[in-house]
Amino acid sequence: MTFPKEFLWGGAVAANQCEGAYNEDGKGLSIQDVMPHGIKTPHTDMPTEDNMKLIGIDFYHRYPEDIKLLAQMGFKTFRTSIAWSRIFPQGDDLEPNEKGLEFYDRLFDECHKYGIEPLVTLSHYETPLNLAKKYDGWVNRELIAFYERYVRTVFARYKDKVKYWLTFNEINSVLHEPFMSGGIDTPKDQLSKQDLYQAIHHELVASALATKIGHEMMPNAKIGCMVLSMPTYPLTPNPDDVIAVMKADHLNYFFGDVHVRGAYPGYMKRYFKENHIELKMEKEDEQILQNTVDFVSFSYYMSVCETADATKKIKGEGNLMGGIANPYLPASDWGWQIDPQGIRYVLNMFWDRWQKPLFIVENGLGAVDELVDDGQGGKTVKDDYRISYLNDHLVQVGEAIEDGVSVMGYTTWGCIDLVSASTAELKKRYGFIYVDREDDGTGTLARYKKKSFGWYKEIIASNGDGLKK
Ligand code: BG6
Repeated sequence: MTFPKEFLWGGAVAANQCEGAYNEDGKGLSIQDVMPHGIKTPHTDMPTEDNMKLIGIDFYHRYPEDIKLLAQMGFKTFRTSIAWSRIFPQGDDLEPNEKGLEFYDRLFDECHKYGIEPLVTLSHYETPLNLAKKYDGWVNRELIAFYERYVRTVFARYKDKVKYWLTFNEINSVLHEPFMSGGIDTPKDQLSKQDLYQAIHHELVASALATKIGHEMMPNAKIGCMVLSMPTYPLTPNPDDVIAVMKADHLNYFFGDVHVRGAYPGYMKRYFKENHIELKMEKEDEQILQNTVDFVSFSYYMSVCETADATKKIKGEGNLMGGIANPYLPASDWGWQIDPQGIRYVLNMFWDRWQKPLFIVENGLGAVDELVDDGQGGKTVKDDYRISYLNDHLVQVGEAIEDGVSVMGYTTWGCIDLVSASTAELKKRYGFIYVDREDDGTGTLARYKKKSFGWYKEIIASNGDGLKK
């Protein structure tokens, strides 16, 4: 059998994309509450009614029903995030909000009721808004202390309920989306490289600190980093293109390299020198960075191409980072190119480089779904396209395992429909469970099982043996 017996099958969401209840039980505003159109338009000053995330899919109130459905599929793990602003509403508060803490107690208890292991992201694109406005997010070193207070609080509270932790979602995406990823309020086009890399340094120190504290407070916990993986292929065999790929890779590998090796790599020192970046480091930073992760987790949606030839830089649509389109690959409804072999490739690259267990914590197809009669008086979605996307990617995960890569688990993105991060739409659906809510705000919020629901249940039950090569 390809997949190890203890393989963690499951699905993933993030608090801000599903919970809703944006101002209930003492929650403060997060940056998402002022991002009504994701990264497509500038953020607003205050929450506006057209922001789908304010209600989300109402997971905050409906989680028992939702967890029960995930349990029916046989989930071994459920990845979600803690909304930082539920726990510390302003981010810089001295005391946590007890009602926020109680919510996650209830949620994690509900998971354990069904033997589902929570996998928790500490910061998933939902920095408290006050930290963005008052401090310019991670540009400011003070964020390290606020994050430390937050992680100590949640580690102490949930140490007996949560074993798997991720420090920052897609930490490398701050290169492209400084507001959403790093709570940096300075507009992207005015943000200097100096400030951007200083912010990155603060996040890397905070991540290593969380790993250190987590290990001290929870000796059995596994703490991982989380990167946005986007394998980059040369557009042509021209050596100039190959070097362009190497440079693009370095800027992404950098984040994993620091998390796994505990120090800045040589190629970044060169990059800093050539770009006149002088990081301000405190004397303890180098030592803190040596607290390396137990595993590396990543999202995978697509691969991209790179070239040194400026005239060929035709941008494809894409995840937060995007890239140059590959002429050999088809694309999703949103123009994200589909490359199942890319997941095998990236698993091998990461394993060869880091020799750390890997966890695929996001993968999936955002598509327009049509709700139809199921012939038994109910409703469903015949999402064969999603089944084939997931099947093909999982087959390649199996290949990577055969290649000798250590893979801990696989959680599909948006296992229940939720609000998209980049476009803030609900019509971009990823789930096995359909949620009746439209982008104009209409809908009953009822849940319906899609065809893929039964498919994934079988795949989990057979530990991957039901996959079609
Ligand atoms: C990742 C994020 O970038 O991709 C998720 O971690 C996000 O938060 C997912 O939802 C899919 O992107 P989108 O824009 O389709 O929601």
